[in-house]
Amino acid sequence: MARKCTQAPPGLQKGRSGEAGATCPRPPTLYNGTMPGPQPPDFSLDSLLRAADNALRALFAPARASRAPPDLPEAAPLGETDRRLVAGLMRVNHAGEIAAQALYHGQALMARSDATRQFLLRAAAEEGDHLAWCEQRLRELADRTSLLNPFWYAGAFAIGATAAALSDRLSLGFVRETERQVEGHLAEHLVRLPAQDTRSRRILETMQREETGHAQAAQAAGAEELPPPLRALMGLASKLMTRSAYWV
Ligand SMILES: [Fe+2]
Ligand SMILES: [Fe+2]
Repeated sequence: MARKCTQAPPGLQKGRSGEAGATCPRPPTLYNGTMPGPQPPDFSLDSLLRAADNALRALFAPARASRAPPDLPEAAPLGETDRRLVAGLMRVNHAGEIAAQALYHGQALMARSDATRQFLLRAAAEEGDHLAWCEQRLRELADRTSLLNPFWYAGAFAIGATAAALSDRLSLGFVRETERQVEGHLAEHLVRLPAQDTRSRRILETMQREETGHAQAAQAAGAEELPPPLRALMGLASKLMTRSAYWV
């Protein structure tokens, strides 16, 4: 009799094969390696230049997507009130993706193992698609990204690098908690979107599904549970960002 398949977390990368004889497909995961002992962060010139290049690209170069959300509908016409609402929400999501880029790049720079670094860089690449989708939607709505993006990038990079300097498990704990919070505000935005804007809806639903995958992959890779005061602080920072990026 065939063995039962356990539910795999959603993600994009093909991972390790499942149990021999299982009938399910391989579980997709962003984490492909084992967790070796801690190594010093990679401060090579290459790595520092890559971090600077990543920051400049995220903040100042037009984002390019490597794929589109599946079955993306055409844009429906929106009245001015709805257009402003959707643009505000997409600006918040774009700022969140800028922060995600910064967090992952800061964490990758200071990661204590190559497996964790590769995990973070793969997740950052997927977040790069989210960034491009939000940016493109804002262009379609004839609106702009947040003026505070450099501030979000700098703050999130510093937080990511600090967490990663302490330990890989703490760093992965940050990934899981951040993704949970992003998932929560995406759910809120999905409720607020005008019903006829199925294009924005598809973008946000795809992002939400992938953020869940990132959180589950971080958990599977050994994420540490963050202490409640730290989680509350992250929630406050996220509120500050979502409230201000809607307008500024
Ligand atoms: Fe994302
Ligand atoms: Fe994510």
